[in-house]
Amino acid sequence: MSRSTTSPNHVAIIMDGNGRWAQMRNRPRLIGHHAGAKRVKEIVEACPGLSVKYLTIFAFSTENWKRTQTEVAGLMKLFKRYLRREAQNLLNNGVRVRFIGDRTRLEPTLVDMMDNLELLTADNDLVHLTVALNYGGRDEVARAARRLAYDVQLGKLDPKSINDETFPKYLDTHVLPDPDLVIRTSGEARISNFLLWQSAYAEYEFIDTLWPDFTDEIFAEVVGRFGARERRFGAVVA
Ligand code: IPE
Ligand code: IPE
Ligand code: MG
Repeated sequence: MSRSTTSPNHVAIIMDGNGRWAQMRNRPRLIGHHAGAKRVKEIVEACPGLSVKYLTIFAFSTENWKRTQTEVAGLMKLFKRYLRREAQNLLNNGVRVRFIGDRTRLEPTLVDMMDNLELLTADNDLVHLTVALNYGGRDEVARAARRLAYDVQLGKLDPKSINDETFPKYLDTHVLPDPDLVIRTSGEARISNFLLWQSAYAEYEFIDTLWPDFTDEIFAEVVGRFGARERRFGAVVA
């Protein structure tokens, strides 16, 4: 409850700024996404050394379908390529991979790869990497409410038992702890529909660096700053 001296157990990152990174170099936006994907590996690998057990990354939002068909298709191709290339490496590095978001709008080949990677890495426990893909906080809460309503209809759930401890069991993140620290790169100070329920008491860091320039040194610096924050969770610290 007082000043935390420890590392954040769960860090969530809004990886933003790929497009601007490419634009600054007069390159197509997809080049920025490729450069950004390379950073993910470095940041995941830095987690054990920083005592970060859970890392959640925002890869594609429910609103990102509004982008051009070329960009969306390029991103989907990049996700498939990344999963194919990194699967073995993630397994060997003790990373347990999970995905959150609505899978129903994603290509079946991509969903198969996501399912397979979750299964392949299910026994790992060094770092828990969660990738938010076609994820939106509002969509997640609405889907949770829908599932909960079905359980009530089936007589499996008593509406009286619904509270802020039972409701999150219906969220995509039900097995994860809440994030302690949310980082957004690229200078934008907004959360863009990311982990709305889960971030109620998260600390926020808005960093000017564009995601493709976000190194493990910067990550270590930001995680280090977390230790100096006083978290009160609504109480008064003596
Ligand atoms: C974040 O970078 C990656 C995704 C949203 C997929 P952007 O593509 O949003 O980059 P900017 O914000 O346009 O620079
Ligand atoms: C948030 O970034 C989504 C991801 C990082 C995947 P956006 O670039 O889509 O968010 P806005 O449009 O600036 O709010
Ligand atoms: Mg952006």
